[in-house]
Amino acid sequence: MLLAKRLKSDFLPYFRKFTLRLRPEITHTHYTRRLLHQLQHSIFSMKKVFQFFLAVGLFIPFCGFSQSSIVPFPYTFQKEITCDSAVVVTAHPLATKVGLDVLQKGGNAVDAAIAVQFALAVVYPQAGNIGGGGFMLYRDKLGNSYCLDFREKAPNAATEKMYQDSLGNVLAKKSQFGALACGVPGTVDGMWEAHKKYGKLKWGELVMPAVELAYRGYQITAAEAQDLNEERILLAKNSSLTPALVKMDDWKSGEWLIQKDLAETLRRIAGNGRDGFYSGATVTLILREMDRKGGLITAEDLSNYHSVWRKPLEFDWKDLHVVTMPPPSSGGIILRQLLAMIGEYPLKSYGIHSAEAVHVMVEAERRAFADRAVFMADPDFFKVPVKKLTDLDYINKRMASFKPDSASQSIGLTAGAIKESEETTHFSIVDAEGNAVSITTTLNDSYGCRTVVGGAGFLLNNEMDDFSVKPGTANLYGAIGGKANAISPNKRPLSSMTPTIISKAGKTVMVLGTPGGTTIPTTTFQILVNVVEFGLTLPEAVQAKRFHHQWKPDVISFEDGCLSPEAQISLEKKGHVLNPRGPIGRMEAIIRLPNGKWQGVADNRGDDAAAGY
Ligand code: GLY
Repeated sequence: MLLAKRLKSDFLPYFRKFTLRLRPEITHTHYTRRLLHQLQHSIFSMKKVFQFFLAVGLFIPFCGFSQSSIVPFPYTFQKEITCDSAVVVTAHPLATKVGLDVLQKGGNAVDAAIAVQFALAVVYPQAGNIGGGGFMLYRDKLGNSYCLDFREKAPNAATEKMYQDSLGNVLAKKSQFGALACGVPGTVDGMWEAHKKYGKLKWGELVMPAVELAYRGYQITAAEAQDLNEERILLAKNSSLTPALVKMDDWKSGEWLIQKDLAETLRRIAGNGRDGFYSGATVTLILREMDRKGGLITAEDLSNYHSVWRKPLEFDWKDLHVVTMPPPSSGGIILRQLLAMIGEYPLKSYGIHSAEAVHVMVEAERRAFADRAVFMADPDFFKVPVKKLTDLDYINKRMASFKPDSASQSIGLTAGAIKESEETTHFSIVDAEGNAVSITTTLNDSYGCRTVVGGAGFLLNNEMDDFSVKPGTANLYGAIGGKANAISPNKRPLSSMTPTIISKAGKTVMVLGTPGGTTIPTTTFQILVNVVEFGLTLPEAVQAKRFHHQWKPDVISFEDGCLSPEAQISLEKKGHVLNPRGPIGRMEAIIRLPNGKWQGVADNRGDDAAAGY
C-alpha cells in the first residue's frame, strides 16, 4: 500500500507533465489521447528510470508515425515524379514526406509549406531553419498572388560600421561567424503569418512532425555526415554549449541525429505559435547565447519582429506571366532584366551552352548585377527604382553596348572567389486544388553563423553578411554592395532569393526556386531559358550544367562539363575569364505538363527529393 502511494506520488506528476506536452492541438488522433489518458491512470508502478524510457518509447508511436520509420534508410531520392493532383519538392526526402503527408490529409499548399519549413529545420540543418528567414510566394487557385517577406532584420543596436575596425578595415569573420553575425530571425513569424491568413489545418499539427523528427531523431545521409564533419570545429567554437550536431568522432551515413533541445523549442512553437519563439523560454535562451557570444539581439528585437506582405513583382515574358520576388530581394528584378535582355537573340539556333548563347546570357548577367550593386536594397529604407529597372526601354538601352564578338568589361574589377556552398534551401509545392507555394529560406551561409543557441538547439543565421559591410567590398558570395545596402538598425539585408511562380493563360504552369546566393537568379533564369528557349523537358533543364556571371568578379564560373573545350576557347577569345567551380544551385521545380499532370523535379546536385499523388 505504502509502496503504491509512493509510486503514485513519484510518478503521477511526472507522467502528467509528460502527457500535458501532448496538447490536444498537437496530438494526431483521438485514439492517441484516449490511450494516453488510460496510461496516465494505470502506469504508476514503474520505476522512474524506466519511466523515462517508456516516455520516449511511447511518445512517438502514439503521436503519429515518425517520418524515419516510414521512410526507410537509405532514403530514395526520387528526382522526378508525375502526378495527377499534388507535388512537393524539397531538399530532403523526410521533409518531402512531411509535406506530402500534410497534403494527403487535406492540408493545402500553405499548410504543407509550413510543415516542410519546420521539418527542414530538423533534417536539413545547414539551411532549413527557425533561426533564419526567407520569402514565400503563394499563388492561389483563383490566380491571386501573394508575397510574404520574413527576411531577418538587423538588430536595433546594429551600426553601419559594426564590421569595420577603427581604420575602416573590414572584419569579415565578424559578419560571418558567431552571434554578432546574426540578424533577428523571421521564419517562425513568417510561418505564423502565412498560417493565420491561408492555413487550413491546425498549427500544432503542422509543427508536430518536426518535433517528432527532432525528438526521435533521423538517420543522416552520407552528404549530411560529410557536411557535419567538415563543420565540426566551427560549430563547436561558435556555440557556447556543444550542440547535438557536434560529435567527437566522425558522423557516418545512417547514424541517428537526435536533437532534444530543438524538439523542445519546436514543441513550444507547436503549442504557443509565434510566442513559442519570440517570447518566453526561447527568448531567454537566445539572450543567454547573445550574452555569452557577444550578439546584439535583444528581447525587444525579437518581440518587435514582424514579417511583411509585399506586392509581388510581376511581368510578362513571351506567353508566360512571371510572379516573383520584389525587394528586399534583388532576384526578381534581375530575373526580369535577364529575360528581357536576351530579347530576340536566337539562342536556340546558337545551341545550349554554345559560346554564342553563353556570351549573350553572361553579358545580360553582367549588366543586371551592376544594377544590383547600386540600386537594390530594403525598400523600407531605400527607394529602389523598381519601375525604372524593370522598364523595357531602360533594359534595352543597357544591352545596346552588347558586342557579339567581345566581352564587355566590369571596370574596376575586384578579385573575389565565389564560394561553393550549399547555403539556403528552396521548396516548391502545389496542392490538389491548384494552389502553389514557392519558398526560399536561409541561414545565409551553410549552418549560418555556426552558433547553435544553447539549450534551444537551433542554428542562428549570418544574414548580416548580406549587407554591404563597407561599400565596394565583396560579401561571402563575392557580391559587391553599395551605399543603398549599408547596415542600418531594423533594416533587411539585400537578398538574391528568387522564389518564382509562372502562369499561362491564367493557370499555374511552373513553380521554381533554388539556393545559391548570387547564383539564384541566374540559375532560375537558366532553367526558364532551358525550357522555353532550348525546348528541354523540366528534368533535362534542371539537371543541365550551369554557368554564372555577376559583374564582379568579372569571370564566368561554370560547372564541370558545362562548357565544351571549343566553347571555352571561343569565350576566352571574346575576352571572358573562365572559372570552373563546383555545383551551382539546387533547383526544386514543378511544371504542369501538356496533359494536365504535374511533374516535380528535384535537383541531382543533392539529397533533394520529389513526391506527390
Ligand atoms: N542569403 C542569401 C540571399 O539571401 O540571397
